Amino acid sequence: MRRIMLLAIFLLINGLIIAGEGMWLPLLLSQLNEKEMHDMGMRISADDIYSVNHSSLKDAVVLFGGGCTAEIVSEQGLLLTNHHCGYSNIQRHSSLQNDYLGEGFWAQSFSEELPNPGLSVTFLISMQDVTNQALTGITAQLTESQRESIIKKNSETLISAAINGTHYKASVKPFYGGNQYYLFVTETFTDIRLVGAPPSDIGKFGGDTDNWMWPRHTGDFSVFRIYAGKDNQPADYSTENVPFHPKMKFTISLKGVQEGDFTFVYGFPGTTQEYLPSVSVNLNANIHNPIAIELRQKRLDIINKGMNEDKLTRLQYSAKAATIANYWKKMIGETRGIRTLDGIEKKKLFEQQFTKWINSDPVRKTLYGSLLPVYANACRLFQPYYEAYTYLTEGALGIELIRYSYGFNALVMQCRDKAVTDEEISKTAQKLLSGAEGYFKNYNSTIDARNFVSLMSIYGSKCRQDLLPDIFTTFRSEYNNDYKLWASDVYEKSFFSQLDRVIRLMKNFKRKDYRKIEKDPAFKVATSVYSYLQNQLSPRLTEFYSRTDSLQRIYMASQMEMQPFKRFYPDANLTLRVSYGNIKGYSPADAIDYKWYTTLSGIMEKENPDIYDYSVKPKLKELYQKKDYGKYADADGEMHVAFIASNHTTGGNSGSPVLDADGHLIGINFDRCWEGTMSDLLYDKDQCRNISLDIRYCLFIIDKFAGASRLIDEMSIVGK
Ligand code: ARG
Ligand code: ASP
Repeated sequence: MRRIMLLAIFLLINGLIIAGEGMWLPLLLSQLNEKEMHDMGMRISADDIYSVNHSSLKDAVVLFGGGCTAEIVSEQGLLLTNHHCGYSNIQRHSSLQNDYLGEGFWAQSFSEELPNPGLSVTFLISMQDVTNQALTGITAQLTESQRESIIKKNSETLISAAINGTHYKASVKPFYGGNQYYLFVTETFTDIRLVGAPPSDIGKFGGDTDNWMWPRHTGDFSVFRIYAGKDNQPADYSTENVPFHPKMKFTISLKGVQEGDFTFVYGFPGTTQEYLPSVSVNLNANIHNPIAIELRQKRLDIINKGMNEDKLTRLQYSAKAATIANYWKKMIGETRGIRTLDGIEKKKLFEQQFTKWINSDPVRKTLYGSLLPVYANACRLFQPYYEAYTYLTEGALGIELIRYSYGFNALVMQCRDKAVTDEEISKTAQKLLSGAEGYFKNYNSTIDARNFVSLMSIYGSKCRQDLLPDIFTTFRSEYNNDYKLWASDVYEKSFFSQLDRVIRLMKNFKRKDYRKIEKDPAFKVATSVYSYLQNQLSPRLTEFYSRTDSLQRIYMASQMEMQPFKRFYPDANLTLRVSYGNIKGYSPADAIDYKWYTTLSGIMEKENPDIYDYSVKPKLKELYQKKDYGKYADADGEMHVAFIASNHTTGGNSGSPVLDADGHLIGINFDRCWEGTMSDLLYDKDQCRNISLDIRYCLFIIDKFAGASRLIDEMSIVGK
């Protein structure tokens, strides 16, 4: 019986990939996935999704900014992405007079669309397997750094050949742990304008409370447009630029979907680590996450208390709190998911089979017999340093004063260096001076001092004592282990805790003034912490990662060799991928079954004027009461808001187009369900769900709520 069970579990993780798992390379769909996609209901071809010979859906998908995805929905370069992806740009255009975050923004004409310096979007022109070229000259005897430098050189040759005579950029990226290499040719546009955004109580409805959760009712979208020069080529911002004419755009479907329907997500997933051994998963889920969670929890408690007590603090800290909370919650979900799934046990079970396979062949045994034990030993030796690193980065560097003070280190270095002129020094001082106002606008030293006490006391007591920066020794002798006393002294005396002091110090700053910085108590803490990080911990990290990179490369290759009939997908690395699955509810816990979609009625149920995250605009309520949904209503008469499916996604997939069997746009991906957030380490078909905004709710908001019908008119929409 036990043997059968073991075999079943073994097949589960080693057998055929389960529907939903995988982030596939568009280039290889026809070879690896097309048949299965057709069996699952897809009606278009792999060639419609990706082709270099003619325009295909890939030409309507872009990397938006540094870490989101967006899709083209009109012949005039109109883009849809998430509200949380456009957030910082919407915020930058917002002021008390023009409260675009609070009230929304809708450009009434092209001329009202707002430029966003620094924002770019990138198209994939082509991708190509260049493994042989990239690995030319590589032998097993090379050290990791020799190997890296040869690959870098080979890549440079490939890149310059690929972009020669064009305005394209190119990069070579490793796949399957460095066993394969692909060349990517890309085109970047830099004149991207804000066209529309719903008010935050639609675009961020549910806030951090609902974040990473289902059932979800967030209208998480915003609208941008790509502008180009008159020749339709990328051009820096200019009033002369015109809307970009894309090679391809998505057709939007109002038909709606049903449970079980085929869907796919086309976008730029950032990072996953699906093929690690149990020892590494353990390091992530059970060593790093709990420390980071505890420290973030403390910060959030302090910040949230401050925000509840004071309006200004809410303004200053809500974006910071959202950033801290996002991965705090993700890590809790991930660690819980690995536990509930018996993730470590499953990996160990696989490792037993793997070891058996290794030992069954004498050559393999000689070559790889020690692979997993060596890997485990590397992790064991690294663990204390990883703990110390996590305490340092999530603890000490969670304190704003420490990070800010260290920003003055470059100035101190310049002052000490005789080769640096006085002019250069005053330039640096000027820069620091002009940045100060912006920094202090969102800074509250009382909150930060509370964080100092809380985070430093956890760091100082829980971290292994011989792995603490020197400053703790000084602290113990000078402050007798009293963290409160330490904090009050630091915040009282430091230049860097008050704007007027920074101004005083930086105005007319002279070279010799660096001594004042050096004596500053916050600066002393900062330099001790940062130099410990740079000189003691970072080398350990580099050593560990270069060691495990090479082990992982071998482990990955051996896993592939051991299972020649299994389709392997490469880990996410912010390159364009296709994930596919089915629309599907799930059961997160005993006695609970989640439906696969939410509706506007759910927004009204959650409405609470006293809770910031759950307020609902009167206009939306009115549309709800009149059931004025127009052509955007589902066949059931309801306004569907969001839906879930088994597509394998991760950070970076936010804003990705969610497509139906015909390749028509039915949603915008924006999150995952909490119980499945371990999918970056281990995907589970029963628990992992991506959350998408129903495109009909998005259009309903644009059309009925905001009255921006000029945008709807640009789109190609197929009806019921
Ligand atoms: N969890 C989503 C992602 O990782 C959305 C985050 C933005 N929303 C928020 N309430 N913080 O990006
Ligand atoms: N919310 C994530 C993003 O912004 C998506 C995810 O992690 O599922 O990319």
